[in-house]
Amino acid sequence: MIILGIETSCDETAAAVVADGRQILSSIVASQIEVHHPYGGVVPELASRKHMENIVPVFRRALGKAGVDARQIEGVAVTRGPGLVGALLVGFSFAKAFAMSRRIPWIGVSHLEGHLNSLFLESEPPPFPFVALLVSGGHTNIYHVTDHTAARLLGQTRDDAAGEAFDKVAKMLGLGYPGGRVISQLADRGDPDTVSFTRPYLNKDEFDFSFSGIKAAVSRYLHKHPGSLQTRGPDIAAGFQEAVVEVLSYKILHAAEQMNCGHLALVGGVAANRRLREVVAGEADRRGLQLHIPSAALCGDNAAMIAAAGYHHLSAGRQSSPEEDVYSRQAEPFMNNREST
Ligand SMILES: Nc1ncnc2c1ncn2[C@@H]1O[C@H](COP(=O)(O)OP(=O)(O)OP(=O)(O)O)[C@@H](O)[C@H]1O
Ligand SMILES: [Mg+2]
Repeated sequence: MIILGIETSCDETAAAVVADGRQILSSIVASQIEVHHPYGGVVPELASRKHMENIVPVFRRALGKAGVDARQIEGVAVTRGPGLVGALLVGFSFAKAFAMSRRIPWIGVSHLEGHLNSLFLESEPPPFPFVALLVSGGHTNIYHVTDHTAARLLGQTRDDAAGEAFDKVAKMLGLGYPGGRVISQLADRGDPDTVSFTRPYLNKDEFDFSFSGIKAAVSRYLHKHPGSLQTRGPDIAAGFQEAVVEVLSYKILHAAEQMNCGHLALVGGVAANRRLREVVAGEADRRGLQLHIPSAALCGDNAAMIAAAGYHHLSAGRQSSPEEDVYSRQAEPFMNNREST
């Protein structure tokens, strides 16, 4: 089944064509970094306007690159939430109108379910069940994943997401937006052991996270040590990154152990972080566990992962109705719920 995927939940306009939830025929991502960079974060109204400009050209490029005609698309999957409502509406309305005009099935899917399904676009996807750390700009969630569209939430952040902490600390260090990649590049030149920051919840036997304390610790350090930004920037970045990575890796490895899973995964934008990948891979290896991480391009937002998730809903006969709407952060049917499996 050839599925068109559409993603506009935040600051990337993305369209992809994916066959059978596995094979990427095309994946186009138009980033809006240059629009939001001067403001140090995403401006929702500007994001919506840019999506409106981008959506048709991005869709056309996705079809062109895949070498398929609109008539060959057999189903449409689109991000329904969570995200910025005005941004989501652009992709959602486009996808709905395209599917209805072509009289093909369509489904609104969770962005989080999309991130988890990015694993199945790689050559060695994990077998079910497995544990996954979804670590991104808006979420830090640990799941026990039992199927493409079924997962139980084991833990989540109680305040900032890990990616959000990277972005906010980057702002404090004057590195601009988005911060994750720049912090990790700066950290490569620093020593993680000279400036140490707090590691919240590290020893608790639970899977929730908190990152606002690490962020506040960086801010306190900068106030207490004026001029340190100029003299010790790389060490501060490395110390911060090491604290976040230690907490994230401790929790996901602990989850694999507790759930008795031989396979674990990292997904979402922060899963592109080199140090996180390295630490979790080393520990997984030591414990005889198999780690799965999508390529960096599939860690960040993209529409191929949305098409992959949508494929499993559509092939199970689930479809969206014309009345269906987008959502920002409400409880999700499968992916945001500690009770569901
Ligand atoms: N190399 C990296 N190291 C650390 N963080 C990174 C890296 N690359 C990207 N990030 C972070 O990943 C986040 C973006 O990820 P993603 O696009 O999945 O988030 P989002 O879609 O905005 O949020 P969500 O998926 O929770 O709705 C940003 O916070 C960014 O700073
Ligand atoms: Mg995302």
